Amino acid sequence: MSNETNRRDFLGYTFAAVAAVGGAASLVGMKQVWDPLPSVLAGGFTTVELSGLKAGEPQTFMWRGKPIFVLKKTTDMEDNSRDLLIGDDRFTVAIGLCTHLGCIPAWKKNMWKCACHGGEFNPSAEQVFGPPPRPLDLPPFSVKGTSIVLGEEGPEYKKIAAAMMA
Ligand code: FES
Repeated sequence: MSNETNRRDFLGYTFAAVAAVGGAASLVGMKQVWDPLPSVLAGGFTTVELSGLKAGEPQTFMWRGKPIFVLKKTTDMEDNSRDLLIGDDRFTVAIGLCTHLGCIPAWKKNMWKCACHGGEFNPSAEQVFGPPPRPLDLPPFSVKGTSIVLGEEGPEYKKIAAAMMA
């Protein structure tokens, strides 16, 4: 084998090694770009503890930048197929954006009232007055003990979503 051949082989191996390292580095770089940011992963799921809620006083939680209404119903609020049952308690869980044009309704006198065009939603999140075309939307959730995890489609969510479609 000539010196010329050895030199060419050496250059070829060196080039291949540099290309392999560069390729691996760029794959790592691309993965970092493709993977969701940690803040996005953390923002995908929100756990809400329900045991501290007071009946008749809905709370608003943020999930993926949207307000989520959670109401623990009082005993005199009507049953609804949309009720989430946990133990002896009934809850309404809803995305807090008016289904007319997206304003955020406020809780007044046992109703969510939308100031934009007067739409009203009852404690089961059904539209009962004004222009909203449908109930407040249901966010995906799963139940873990006395908490819900917003962003996961658990069996309770699927059952309520199916009842709303019926
Ligand atoms: S946006 Fe709520 S009634 Fe129009």
